[in-house]
Amino acid sequence: MRKMVGILKIGGGVLTDKTKLESPRMETIERIAAEVASSSSGLVLVHGAGSFGHIHADKYDLREKFDPEGILETHRSVVRLNEIVVEALCRAGAHPVPVHPLSCALLQDGRIEDMNIGPLTEMIERGLLPVLHGDVVMDRARGADILSGDQIITHLARSLGADVVALGTREDGVIYGGEVVSRVTRENYHRIEPELGGSRGVDDVTGGMRMKVMELLDLADDGIPSLIFNAGKKGMIEKALEGELVGTLVEGSS
Ligand code: IPE
Repeated sequence: MRKMVGILKIGGGVLTDKTKLESPRMETIERIAAEVASSSSGLVLVHGAGSFGHIHADKYDLREKFDPEGILETHRSVVRLNEIVVEALCRAGAHPVPVHPLSCALLQDGRIEDMNIGPLTEMIERGLLPVLHGDVVMDRARGADILSGDQIITHLARSLGADVVALGTREDGVIYGGEVVSRVTRENYHRIEPELGGSRGVDDVTGGMRMKVMELLDLADDGIPSLIFNAGKKGMIEKALEGELVGTLVEGSS
């Protein structure tokens, strides 16, 4: 029988202080690692870059220009955060393995055209926890571009046939008129869209909440719902992975 597969993204704004270069929030990382380590299903973890990566990508204008030095600096920076996360997961008793998108994904005009899934399925089967991250990735049209963790989770959700897709942010979900919207579909999206902003801290080169919701609505169109929740709050990861509606459910139109 195939294992249940959960895909969890933790935003860079949760794991780092986005306003200060390469500043991990160590207590939060340790807590999240413990919560992830105790989850029972087969899991793929994807983390954002926060102040490891966004600042470099912005400095070298990587979305606009092909810059070999910028590619290396940005990649090395997110890999440093990946190592911190992987170390914390080891201390928490998980069996993490780092997987770097620069080495296994290819873009065409900013969208994933190809990604090597075989190693991931094998890792999940054998109880390992693949840990991917937003990264700078080669792009057939542009040379290189920034691949967000959000696009990675939707791609993996489709190709691995995920049972649960959860996106942990610093917000309680999608906020409209000061309240958490419990469900977002294509029907109510146009109403809430004007209130969906970018994100706090450094320029977010991958677009903030609006891009997340658009990405997840496309996934919902393919029949895979997902949850946006607050990973800054203790205990929420477990609930989200168990399918509790803690946050905003992005789902297909009924
Ligand atoms: C961005 O990844 C990757 C780089 C800037 C290299 P994400 O878009 O997933 O990161 P966060 O969650 O916004 O920090």
